[in-house]
Amino acid sequence: MASDQVIDRKDNKQVAQAPFGQVSLEGKVVWVTGAGSGIGEACALAFGEAGAKVILTGRREQTLDAVAQRIHAKGGHAKVIAGDMMDRARVMAIAAEIDERYKALHILVNNAGLNVLERNWSVLTADQANYVIEGNLSSAFYGVIAALPIMRRQGDGLLIHTSSWAGRFVSKVSGPAYSAAKHGVVAMSYAINQEEFRHGIRSTVICPAEVATPILDKRPVPVSAEDRAKMLQSEDLARSVLHVATAPKHVCINEIVISPSWNRSYL
Ligand SMILES: NC(=O)c1ccc[n+]([C@@H]2O[C@H](COP(=O)([O-])OP(=O)(O)OC[C@H]3O[C@@H](n4cnc5c(N)ncnc54)[C@H](OP(=O)(O)O)[C@@H]3O)[C@@H](O)[C@H]2O)c1
Repeated sequence: MASDQVIDRKDNKQVAQAPFGQVSLEGKVVWVTGAGSGIGEACALAFGEAGAKVILTGRREQTLDAVAQRIHAKGGHAKVIAGDMMDRARVMAIAAEIDERYKALHILVNNAGLNVLERNWSVLTADQANYVIEGNLSSAFYGVIAALPIMRRQGDGLLIHTSSWAGRFVSKVSGPAYSAAKHGVVAMSYAINQEEFRHGIRSTVICPAEVATPILDKRPVPVSAEDRAKMLQSEDLARSVLHVATAPKHVCINEIVISPSWNRSYL
C-alpha cells in the first residue's frame, strides 16, 4: 500500500489521503477567531495553504485584512468578517453570514482571547474580572453556540479551542480570572464531546504554555527577546491545530497540553 493510501473504515477500500507534511483541507470551511495576530494568524495562514476557505474574525479589521492578503497571495481563499466575540449578537450574525455564503462550517478555531495587567487579587476589580471571563470563556461559548446548529445539520464538525497551560494548572503569572476562564474552556470542550459526538461533532482543547505572540506585550513584567526565543512559536501551535484538523473522522483528540522544552513555570 502506498504511503499516501489509507483504508476507509466503512467499506474497507483504499482511499487517497495527503501524505504527511502535505496536508490538504481542500474546500473545508474554517472559521478562525483571533485571526489577526499570533496563534490565530498562524492557523489562518496554515489553513489557507492547506486549501481551506478561511474566515477571519477579530476586532481590528486592518490586521485581519493583512492576513487575508497573505493568504490570497499564496492562491488561498480568505474572507474577513470582523467582530467582537464578546458581543453575542455579532457572533451569531457572523455564523449566519458564513452559513449564508458557504452553506457550511466544518471547523471552528475558537482562539480569540485576552488578559489584563491586573493579575493579583489585591488589584483585580470586578470589571476587569468580568472582562477577562467574557473575553476568554463567554466569547468561546458564543462561538460554539453559533457554530453547533450548522455542524449538527451537516452531521460533521470540529471545534478547536485555545485554552492555556493556565487552563490546566492555576497560574500566578496569568492571574486568577484568566486561569479560571481557561479552566472553563477545558470543561466546555469536554462537555461538547459528551453530547455532540452523536452528531458527528468533535471538540479539541489545546492548552499551550508560553507562546511568543503579541499577547506577551501586555504582561505586567516585560518578557525579554531571549525568553521569547525559547518559547513556543505560533507556527508550533498551527502545526498542532492542523494535526487535529486532519485526523480521520473516527478520531477525537480531546486535549493537547503543549509547552516549550524550556518551561519557565518550572523555574
Ligand atoms: N501567547 C501565549 O503565551 C498563550 C498561551 C496560552 C494560551 N494563549 C491563548 O492563545 C489565544 C491566542 O492568543 P495569542 O497568544 O495568539 O495572542 P494575540 O496575538 O494577542 O492574539 C489574540 C487575538 O485575539 C483577538 N481577540 C481578542 N479578543 C477578541 C474578541 N473579544 N473578539 C475578537 N477577537 C479578539 C485579537 O485581535 P483584536 O484585538 O483585533 O480583536 C488578537 O488578534 C488566546 O486565547 C490566548 O489566551 C496564549
